[in-house]
Amino acid sequence: MSISAASRAVFLILITVVVVDAATAQGRATPNTQLASKDIDTRVEALLKQMTIEEKIGQTVQYSAGFATGPSASNLTYDELVAKGQVGSMLNVVGAERTNHYQHIAMEKSRLHIPILFGLDIIHGHRTTFPVPLAVAASWDPEAAETVARVAAEEARADGIAWVFSPMVDIARDPRWGRIIESNGEDPYLSSALARAWVKGYQQDDLSKPGSVAACVKHFAAYGAAIAGRDYNAVDMSELTLRQVYLKPYHAAVDAGAATVMTSFNSINGVPGTADPLTLTQILRKEWRFDGFVVSDWGAVAELKNHSIGDGPTVARKALMAGTDMDMEGDLYGTVLAAQVRSGKIPESVVDEAVRRILRVKFALGLFDHPYTNVGPAYSPTPERREAARRVADETMVLLKNDPVEGVGSLLPLTAKTKTVALIGPMADDARDLLGAWTVTGSPKDVITLKTALSERLGDKLLYAPGCGLLAGEDENVLMSVTFAGGAASVDQSVADDDKTITEAVDTARKADVAILALGEPTNWMEGEASSRVHLGFTGNQEKLLEAVVATGKPVILVVLAGRPLQLKWADEHVPAILEAWSPGIEAGPAVADVLFGDVNPSGKLPSSFPRAVGQEPLYYAQTATGRPARGELNRMPRNAAEKFVSRYMDEENSALFPFGWGLSYTRFSYAKPTVDRAEIPVREVADNHQPVATVSVDVRNIGSVAGTEVVQLYIRNTEASVEQPVRELKGFTRVTLAPGEMKHVTFPLGFDELNFYGVDLKKTVEPTTYNIWVGGSSLAIAETSLMIAE
Ligand code: NOJ
Repeated sequence: MSISAASRAVFLILITVVVVDAATAQGRATPNTQLASKDIDTRVEALLKQMTIEEKIGQTVQYSAGFATGPSASNLTYDELVAKGQVGSMLNVVGAERTNHYQHIAMEKSRLHIPILFGLDIIHGHRTTFPVPLAVAASWDPEAAETVARVAAEEARADGIAWVFSPMVDIARDPRWGRIIESNGEDPYLSSALARAWVKGYQQDDLSKPGSVAACVKHFAAYGAAIAGRDYNAVDMSELTLRQVYLKPYHAAVDAGAATVMTSFNSINGVPGTADPLTLTQILRKEWRFDGFVVSDWGAVAELKNHSIGDGPTVARKALMAGTDMDMEGDLYGTVLAAQVRSGKIPESVVDEAVRRILRVKFALGLFDHPYTNVGPAYSPTPERREAARRVADETMVLLKNDPVEGVGSLLPLTAKTKTVALIGPMADDARDLLGAWTVTGSPKDVITLKTALSERLGDKLLYAPGCGLLAGEDENVLMSVTFAGGAASVDQSVADDDKTITEAVDTARKADVAILALGEPTNWMEGEASSRVHLGFTGNQEKLLEAVVATGKPVILVVLAGRPLQLKWADEHVPAILEAWSPGIEAGPAVADVLFGDVNPSGKLPSSFPRAVGQEPLYYAQTATGRPARGELNRMPRNAAEKFVSRYMDEENSALFPFGWGLSYTRFSYAKPTVDRAEIPVREVADNHQPVATVSVDVRNIGSVAGTEVVQLYIRNTEASVEQPVRELKGFTRVTLAPGEMKHVTFPLGFDELNFYGVDLKKTVEPTTYNIWVGGSSLAIAETSLMIAE
């Protein structure tokens, strides 16, 4: 007879130490002090008293006066609405002149002179385009994320933008989902560390400082878990997984003071995210004490009708009551809320609260005192900002493979001995695609391509052939859906004849000592929103090109330029050196060259597992065990194809081709056996003490002949928990730079924050158990120790 769920829960409570106040155990104990300031409250209340119901609702309305990424509210004359005080915020209005235009109307013609808050999607830099967020995550360097956000914030403010729709911290475990490029990857610990850094970079801990902008954490909640990786699709997961994995990075961003949150398009366990009282009110407001405001995603309030939860007035009411304070381009709050307030269906106090939250952010940003933006000269990236973009891009490069070639040795780094280099492939000189997906203001004109950077270094030792186009040969449906506004993408006819261009590329490779293949995926509207794919190979004829060049027998270095993990199985079997360079932004060429020539020793590590086959997705390292593990899953031995009735695929390994945390260097690092300073800790001590209770130490040594930076990673496994825990979980990481022969003693604190998990009662808990602990350079780390938590 099985024990019922209820009696199991009671039994567990008896033997575990539950931290009752889960809301504050790890989170901020007080609200965001800036938004909670007395002075701001006084000004908000004074203003609120003077507002009519229409003016109040006006603050909850946001329109786009630029391009659209979804259905638009049409036929509106914004000047008129702004003058009537019926628009609180605008998006896609960029530049001092354009923003000042509307701001003058708001400040001078509207009755209460409330400034407009201008928001924009600034995803990886504003004018100065940095690598895409997934690449920044590959640096495992929160300071790099902070730099990107800081520079972007300064440039945004100079363009009249005080609010950025970033960071996106949706956990993304499925590269079929095109928005994985905007994420920090698959892991809640890494993503949380980066989330904090992005928020800090945007907001500088003080929204009123010059050059600060309000961050917007999105998409709340769990948007990245869309079923089958299809964008906008439903999400269905246990609340346990939601809390244990998916909510963590949003919580980290809120704790870091993020002023705003954006809802998600998807439903979560049957309730659309934009009208979900559990996530928006219970968790965000009550448990996390978030006191900024919540904006819907684009049109998401109106789209609630498609989710079949009511007609226009009903869904607007549901969204507002659930906690969505502002309606982005849905055109519903402005049109249907007032009547419902008048009829008593919506208490006016609910509208007041939404308005308060919005006004608080406007006051904190200093918009009432400094509403306008000085018109400056046309922008081009300064040398300092270029330098910052290059340093960040350098850190994002992940060396996936660098196997020695017979008679040549390792192909990377290139040395003075390399005489002639053939640079081949459609990404080599494609400024637009090197810039990366989802940039509103970034300019391809600012991009230094690989071809330019390598020819600067190699002069006439560099040969070049595009080989093929990114899209030539691609399926018609893909060509139709890769454009922003419909219509088939134009295919560059000069590279459309694959027989001719691939033959030219092969001839070019034959003339060289080594071939560098720059391949990838078109980043412009084939990655990012509405860009789900079920085939994750190179697009067009690129794989054919790769195979043809490999067949020449010339040593090949593959540089992959794409914002999402692609399927690299064939390449891994046939190419000795592979560099994952992502979408590097304006300094693409110099940064790739830095690593190819060894001026920069690669230090990036994968924030996302790379699959062997698409059928493995969603694929992530922190899986829970099964009762029938395949050989190799627990002891990391190669699989046994003859094993039956175990949890495995018949036709492929379970494991990733390149796992989470993976990344090589031009040097090697050795790890001594880690130690913990305490063998055993009473469970009560861990639960009661939200400070570290133990320290894990490990000696890491550079045993190669060049200096290098290693990302030292700490993983744990809770071996005996009341709720099944992942086979490994990242709980610490740090970047360590070591000269040849140098050794450093690296330490990691462990305490409640690292050791807790959610119990069946959905509260954070620690229990008596043993934690296995590994430290190393990837999620395959083998240097091991353990820590016992006693009764
Ligand atoms: C829709 C996207 O999902 C969101 O990330 C973005 O911020 C808004 N559109 C505004 O453009």
